[in-house]
Amino acid sequence: MTRIFSGLKPTGHLTLGNYLGALRQWADVDQHRADALFCVVDLHALTVEHDPARVRRLSRQAATLMLAAGLDPALCTVFVQSHVAEHTRLSYLLECVATDGELRRMIQYKEKSERARTTGQSIRFSLLSYPALMAADILAYAADEVPVGADQTQHVELTRDLAERFNQRYGPTFTVPRATPPAVAARVMDLQDPTSKMGKSHEATSGIVYLLDEADVVRKKIMRAVTDSGREVEYDREARPGPANLLEILAACEGRNPDELAGGYESYGALKKDTAEAVVELLRPLRERHAALAADPEYVDGVLREGAERARGMARPVVDAAYRAIGLLPAT
Ligand code: TYM
Repeated sequence: MTRIFSGLKPTGHLTLGNYLGALRQWADVDQHRADALFCVVDLHALTVEHDPARVRRLSRQAATLMLAAGLDPALCTVFVQSHVAEHTRLSYLLECVATDGELRRMIQYKEKSERARTTGQSIRFSLLSYPALMAADILAYAADEVPVGADQTQHVELTRDLAERFNQRYGPTFTVPRATPPAVAARVMDLQDPTSKMGKSHEATSGIVYLLDEADVVRKKIMRAVTDSGREVEYDREARPGPANLLEILAACEGRNPDELAGGYESYGALKKDTAEAVVELLRPLRERHAALAADPEYVDGVLREGAERARGMARPVVDAAYRAIGLLPAT
């Protein structure tokens, strides 16, 4: 059976980008067709300046939203990364396989380290080694597929390279995974700055739809989305990023094609209105289920406890095999 692994990092409130680019596909498709694990990757949230209480709060909220989105613990494994020690155990071995040069070439490292530099913050070493930990997340479970948005495909490519290099040097140990981004909305853009990704850790929030935003807030944000001075509604990601983003969001909500949708609109106002209503309807059940689950944190904790146990059982033999293959003396 196909094995799937993916994760969300609790660095901010989850966004429409997280939902359309990843979470929805996990819940609606992936958990039904494969042996799937979905993880709140909390260790990754420590790679930038963080507030401990906030990370703890956001980790529980992310897990609750994953269940609210429809992940079913009877079908898949939902857990928190730091509850399973195999991730960090394996990450070190992969740091010994990765090179400094390839880690420095990662776009997210370049962007985030640049941002830290310009705001006078120090750059944590873990920001550089982050992709080795991400590779460990995936390889520890022998995952075949990694459903992620387009911004993560470079990290999955690196994971493939590390797996192949390890296997070549030390013998077949890891499954070589591949990224499986969604067909539409693999990169949802910021509504106020449609040339940059809608990201949960951005400071300006008016262009970001959060999954837990009230319906009226969602409407307002979408109605105020930046478009352009063009008269016709057409789908062109390069030349018309604002309208293209709205068309993609609407298409993703309705299971349609953005190019086809464009033909049905004569004005941006109508497009925005339909997009706003579609997103409100898409998020309504999620918010309702989140409210119910948030009132029962013991249930959520129980799911995470069982999930971690199951995950540990799967990762342990793979990581032990990697320790043996690389030349470490087994503990007796
Ligand atoms: P993170 O937490 O930034 O995002 C979680 C998932 O949401 C997708 N995503 C988007 N998709 C479309 N449009 C957007 N604007 C958008 N923003 C985010 C991301 O592509 C991702 O699929 N490094 C990862 C977390 C991670 C991970 C892993 C993922 C750690 N280990 C192992 C998969 C497998 C990250 O920062 O995702």
